[in-house]
Amino acid sequence: MPANPKIAVIGLGYVGLPLAVALADKFSVTGLDINENRINELLSGYDKTGEIDSAKLKRSTLKLTTKKADISGFELYIVTVPTPVDDKNKPDLGPVIRASSLVGSVLQSGAIVVYESTVYPGVTENIAANALEAASNLTCGQDFYLGYSPERINPGDSEHTVERLTKVVAGQTPAVTEILEDVYGAVTTGGVFKANNIRTAEAAKVIENAQRDINIAFVNEVTMICQKMGISVYDVLDAAGTKWNFLSFKPGLVGGHCIGVDPYYLAHVATTFGHNPKVILSGRLTNDSMGNFIADSIASRMPHSGMSARILVLGLTFKADIPDLRNTRVIDVVQKLKASGGIVSVHDSYADPLEAKSLFDLELLNEMPHDSQFDCIVGAVSHKEYIGLTMDDFALILKPGGLVADITGMWRNTRISADFSRWQL
Ligand SMILES: NC(=O)c1ccc[n+]([C@@H]2O[C@H](COP(=O)([O-])OP(=O)(O)OC[C@H]3O[C@@H](n4cnc5c(N)ncnc54)[C@H](O)[C@@H]3O)[C@@H](O)[C@H]2O)c1
Repeated sequence: MPANPKIAVIGLGYVGLPLAVALADKFSVTGLDINENRINELLSGYDKTGEIDSAKLKRSTLKLTTKKADISGFELYIVTVPTPVDDKNKPDLGPVIRASSLVGSVLQSGAIVVYESTVYPGVTENIAANALEAASNLTCGQDFYLGYSPERINPGDSEHTVERLTKVVAGQTPAVTEILEDVYGAVTTGGVFKANNIRTAEAAKVIENAQRDINIAFVNEVTMICQKMGISVYDVLDAAGTKWNFLSFKPGLVGGHCIGVDPYYLAHVATTFGHNPKVILSGRLTNDSMGNFIADSIASRMPHSGMSARILVLGLTFKADIPDLRNTRVIDVVQKLKASGGIVSVHDSYADPLEAKSLFDLELLNEMPHDSQFDCIVGAVSHKEYIGLTMDDFALILKPGGLVADITGMWRNTRISADFSRWQL
C-alpha cells in the first residue's frame, strides 16, 4: 500500500459523503454513487442530506462519478451502501452484493476493500467476499484483503462527526488493520480502536443500535403503563434519573435507517445459529407498536367524534432537524389517525414534498395553517421550528377546545391556556 493510497468511497449518502469529504482532505479520493441525480446534485454543490454545506462541498478535492472505470485499480475501496430489511424484516443485502460486484470488476491485486455498511457478523467475510471474488477472479486473503469499520455518525448531529468519532477498525490481517488505523487515524481526532477481527467489529456496530432499541422499548413500555395509571412518564423519568446509574432514554417513535432496522440483522444471524433472540425482537415489537398506541390515545381524546376531527401533524421525518424520511414511524400515526376517521394534514419544515408524495402518497402542507380550524395539533418531530411554538401559535391553528398532543415532549413546559387541552406521553 503506497503512503498516499487512491481511495474510492462507494455510495455517497448520509454516511459515504461526509466520510469521502473528510478523507479527501488527506488523500486522493473518488466517490462513486449509482444514483446519477445524486452525483449531479453534488457536482452542483448541493447535498440534499444537509450533512455537507455547499461551500465545503465545492472546496473539497473529492472527485465524483457514476462510472466504475473512474475507480479502477485503486488501492482502497470503502463501501457505504444501504443495508435495509425486506418486507418480512429480513436483511436485504442486495446493495452490498451489487456494490461488491462493482468493486470486484475493477479490483486489482493488493487492494483492500473495507465495509462500513452496518451488517451482521459474517457478511463481510462470506457474502461480500464471495461477490468480490466472483467479479474479480482474484482470491480473497491472497490477492486482495478485507476490512470492516462501522460508521457511527448521527445525521444532523454537528458534534459527533466523522472527524471526531472513535473509529473501530478490523482488517483481515494485522497488516491490513494497521493500514486502516493509519487511514482513519488521519481523519479523526477521536482515535482508532482495533477490534480483534472483522466479525467482532461487525457485531460491535449491530449491538450498539440493538442496545439503544431495547432501552427505548423499555421506556416505551413504561410509557404505556404510565398512561394507564394517569401519570406522566417524563415526570417518572425525571425522578428516576436522579439515581447515579439510571439510564437516560426518552419514549417515542423509533424509525430511520439504523435503530429500527439493525436489530433485525442481529436477530437474523442469531436464528441462523439456532438462538431465538427473544429480547431483541420483543423490543422491536414494542417500538413498532408505538405509532398505533399514540394514534389511539389521540383519537380517544378528540374534542368530538373522531370521525370528522381535523388533525394537523407537525413533522414527518424520522428524527428532528434532518430531511430523512426513511422508515419514519410518524407515518404509522398518520395512517392510524386517518383509519380512525380523522382528516389529517401534515407539515414538515425539512422533508422533501416530492419524496413524501412518492413514499407515502402524502401531500405536505406548504405552510403552517392559521385559520383556527383544527381539532388537534400533533407535535410528532421536534424540529427547531416547532419547539418554540407558543400558545398564540396554537390559537392560530386550533379551534377553541382543541387538543395539543405532544409526542416528543417538546412542549412539556409550554403554557397551554384553559381553552385547550393537552396530551403527552
Ligand atoms: N444514516 C445513518 O445515520 C447511519 C449511521 C451509521 C451507519 N449507517 C449505515 O451506513 C450504511 C449507509 O447508510 P446511509 O444512511 O448513508 O444510506 P443512504 O441511503 O443515505 O446512502 C447510500 C447511497 O448508496 C448509493 N448506492 C446504493 N447502492 C449502490 C451501489 N450498488 N453502488 C454504489 N452506490 C450505491 C445510493 O444511491 C445512496 O446514495 C448503511 O448500512 C447504514 O445502516 C447509517
